[in-house]
Amino acid sequence: MNQKKGVIAIDGHSSCGKSTVAKDLAKELGYVYIDTGAMYRAVTLFAMQNGLITDGEILLDELQNKLNDIKITFRYRPEEKKNETFLNGTIVEDEIRGLEVSNNVSAVSTIAFVRHRMVELQKEMGKEGGIVMDGRDIGTVVFPDADVKLFMTASPEIRAQRRYDELKAKDSTDNSLSFDAILENVKQRDHMDSTRKESPLKKADDAILLDNSDMNKQEQMDWIMNVLRERNLA
Ligand code: DC
Repeated sequence: MNQKKGVIAIDGHSSCGKSTVAKDLAKELGYVYIDTGAMYRAVTLFAMQNGLITDGEILLDELQNKLNDIKITFRYRPEEKKNETFLNGTIVEDEIRGLEVSNNVSAVSTIAFVRHRMVELQKEMGKEGGIVMDGRDIGTVVFPDADVKLFMTASPEIRAQRRYDELKAKDSTDNSLSFDAILENVKQRDHMDSTRKESPLKKADDAILLDNSDMNKQEQMDWIMNVLRERNLA
């Protein structure tokens, strides 16, 4: 039987390895990977570059007027598992991961007109199938009929430990890093993501829960590939 090119929706808490799993899956299946967090980050960068955010204050009318000027595209290189984000033709992959964008993106991602536009673009990107999309509202809002919906999580302590290790690996001399502060931040973001008014993070009823607290990368892949085989997607 021919395998169909499906839509795989991956949602879940921050820092639980969604994008790593999504990239690995896209490579394995020959699908396109779409990082929807990068889209909210690119809108945030656009707003900052155009003076529409000052001291955390967002000029909503101006942003709404300029929304159609924002073109977000991706260049995905499956072999390197590298996903590059472009804003109006310029590569912005590093800038959108920076602290300033990270500090403002939560606020931008709660704006209803921004969400509506992003969801519209995301639906368009996935309409032919053959896509792995990760985010917070993919299985609930963007693709409620996705072929497979995964909801990923891990305990806050495990996620904080992974982030702590990651940051420590980047700069082992940074003594200001505190596990407790990172844990607090993880808990705060969970709370913000799941209690916001617009498209809060929640598990779709038909999503499969993947708690990877005690799983390594390979175990997660094996687990997911089994699910996909059962659904004739692999
Ligand atoms: O996954 P990330 O950290 O790159 O996401 C950046 C921000 O965008 C984060 O605050 C959650 C938000 N987001 C969202 O609201 N909906 C999505 N589909 C993806 C991300």
